Amino acid sequence: MTDEATSAQGVSEGHTGSQEDVEGTRLVKRWTRNPRWVAEARSDLRRELGGWGLGGLAETAELVLSELFTNAVRYAPRDRKIETRYEPTSDGGVRIEVHDASEVWPVLQEPSADAESGYGLALVDSLTGSRWGVSERDGVGKRVWAVVGCADGEVAGR
Ligand SMILES: Nc1ncnc2c1ncn2[C@@H]1O[C@H](COP(=O)(O)OP(=O)(O)OP(=O)(O)O)[C@@H](O)[C@H]1O
Ligand SMILES: [Mg+2]
Repeated sequence: MTDEATSAQGVSEGHTGSQEDVEGTRLVKRWTRNPRWVAEARSDLRRELGGWGLGGLAETAELVLSELFTNAVRYAPRDRKIETRYEPTSDGGVRIEVHDASEVWPVLQEPSADAESGYGLALVDSLTGSRWGVSERDGVGKRVWAVVGCADGEVAGR
């Protein structure tokens, strides 16, 4: 979808080059594929978590977002947007989604002592208690999602 078509549907273009769409408690934003937006995406997430009373999850959630966003920047086609979605879960966590336009799905690497990369998803796996995955999305590419928060309902930091 072009920027013009998106604007016509009421999604405003922010001064940062991201586009924003708030649907109820869900924040949806689209970003050009550039690592400079990682910090801003993290600060959006921190602000949303604070608003939902889930500020105690911010540190872990930002780390997870960082890894997924960085992967999307690194592995997806250059001229296509990245989309982020943040949403509170019914059990007191936050679901983070990063959509990109690459049809290649990420693969969790076996950690090895001498590897210089391949740690990102292992970190996500550990920080989320394996509550992450990949699924189809509307259109080209896929969504990588992760849930941060205690599955037993006890929210960290409260
Ligand atoms: N969004 C993505 N699209 C396509 N492939 C991906 C994506 N994210 C990860 N991958 C693939 O999965 C592999 C594992 O990702 P992971 O984040 O664990 O490691 P890395 O990005 O290679 O290194 P590091 O995160 O330690 O800098 C990557 O090497 C890449 O091949
Ligand atoms: Mg990575």
